[in-house]
Amino acid sequence: MVSGGKFNAAKLALEVVRDGMVLGIGSGSTVEIFLNLLGERIRREEMEIYGVPTSYQSYFTALRNGIKIVDLEYEPEVCIDGADQVDAKMNCIKGGGGALTREKIVASASKKVVIIVDESKLVEKLSMPVPVEVLPFGYPYVVKKLHDMGCSEIRLRHGSGKVGPVITDNGNFVLDCNFGVLEDERVERLEEKIKTVRGVLENGIFPKKIIDRVIVGKG
Ligand code: A5P
Repeated sequence: MVSGGKFNAAKLALEVVRDGMVLGIGSGSTVEIFLNLLGERIRREEMEIYGVPTSYQSYFTALRNGIKIVDLEYEPEVCIDGADQVDAKMNCIKGGGGALTREKIVASASKKVVIIVDESKLVEKLSMPVPVEVLPFGYPYVVKKLHDMGCSEIRLRHGSGKVGPVITDNGNFVLDCNFGVLEDERVERLEEKIKTVRGVLENGIFPKKIIDRVIVGKG
């Protein structure tokens, strides 16, 4: 749902954009608002902006707004992305839109990462189920290993507009994995540990070390 907070965060993020920049472009509704606002600025100021999108959603929205699509041969100066939860230390959980793997690659490849959220995303400690992108072939094995790791509940994500599981832009499944409340010191360890399971492509924990700034828009 589009809130005033999302709009205000997206508007503030416009200030980091300069003519000629290569941007990492995250996914989700807040990024969509950002891209639409940026499109207005591109037309008004006749700017040239290049972008590496992280999903088909942001690819089409970026194109529509006059952003020139490039790939990671070009290092993004700033990655602008949304988040599903942000804790008091700036650790995030992302992947509500299933774009977590490309989002993490592009965030890691960018010089700076700016997260744009409304206040509803702020929590003291991360606690929502962690999205995990999994190669379908390895799914039963990954589920078993994540249970062994202490995950109390694992749900294969189902979507709308198609029967059966959500298939990501990379052709994989998404599991929503309940690991309970994540204390700050556990965040990085869990992120690393989930990645050691064969068949896991990526998980939605974005530790604070890869985030430079969080812009919180008030409603
Ligand atoms: C996409 O996979 C997600 O990581 C989004 O960035 C996240 O879900 C935030 O989405 P909204 O901006 O729609 O809340």
